[in-house]
Amino acid sequence: MSFSPQWEQVYREQSNISIWPWSDLVSYMHRYAKPFSSSTKVLEIGFGAGANIPFFLSIGVDYYGIEGSDSIAARVREQYPELKNRLKTGDFISQKHSDMYDLVIDRSSMTHNDTSAIKLGLKNLCAAMRPGAKYIGVDWFSVEHSGFGLGERIDEYTRANITEGQFAGVGNVHFSSKEHLIELFSEAGMAIVRLEHKQIVSAIPQTMHLFASWNLVAEKV
Ligand SMILES: C[S@@+](CC[C@H](N)C(=O)[O-])C[C@H]1O[C@@H](n2cnc3c(N)ncnc32)[C@H](O)[C@@H]1O
Repeated sequence: MSFSPQWEQVYREQSNISIWPWSDLVSYMHRYAKPFSSSTKVLEIGFGAGANIPFFLSIGVDYYGIEGSDSIAARVREQYPELKNRLKTGDFISQKHSDMYDLVIDRSSMTHNDTSAIKLGLKNLCAAMRPGAKYIGVDWFSVEHSGFGLGERIDEYTRANITEGQFAGVGNVHFSSKEHLIELFSEAGMAIVRLEHKQIVSAIPQTMHLFASWNLVAEKV
């Protein structure tokens, strides 16, 4: 099982429509992906409502995207007609890519698949990365996240059918530990060279909820 069809429903209901570039992604690009230029070939997996596209256009890289929900992908293609042949509908887990990329960008997309799908997806993406290419992952959920205790167990690290909070209605949610991430990427042929754990706790209003996720940079070895 890979792409969760629930995403189609989420977008039809107009929820989860993020339209501002994610700040962690912008800072990771500037901190770890430089130098980039018009010949830097970038693949964004799970581009969703296209939140990060204005940022990639502003830095002038050679941008491509793949997204599983056809309704949101079609909407983004309409919004960016100049990119319409570069924004594909497809499942990035099983996709065999014919092009080679310098950067793979993943803002909380791979982490919405189960463990075996992630292993296959990372392998297929690694095969489409040039030697030394980087994979920038932002917001891979952590086993410390309060959501890890919710929903139905799909495998050791994956939950589904969560009915409350940010994961309601989105199908598979995968939660990682540091060791698990290192293993996933090394099995796929990449080495994690940067890894940060982010934890956010609301002080006002005070809740017991913990948001915890990983940001990472991995290089093809
Ligand atoms: C949390 S949203 C993030 C959207 C976007 N990356 C952003 O930062 O705003 C996750 C996205 O990944 C897509 N997705 C998850 N698994 C996928 C798969 N196997 N193939 C294609 N798209 C997938 C979903 O449809 C959804 O649009």
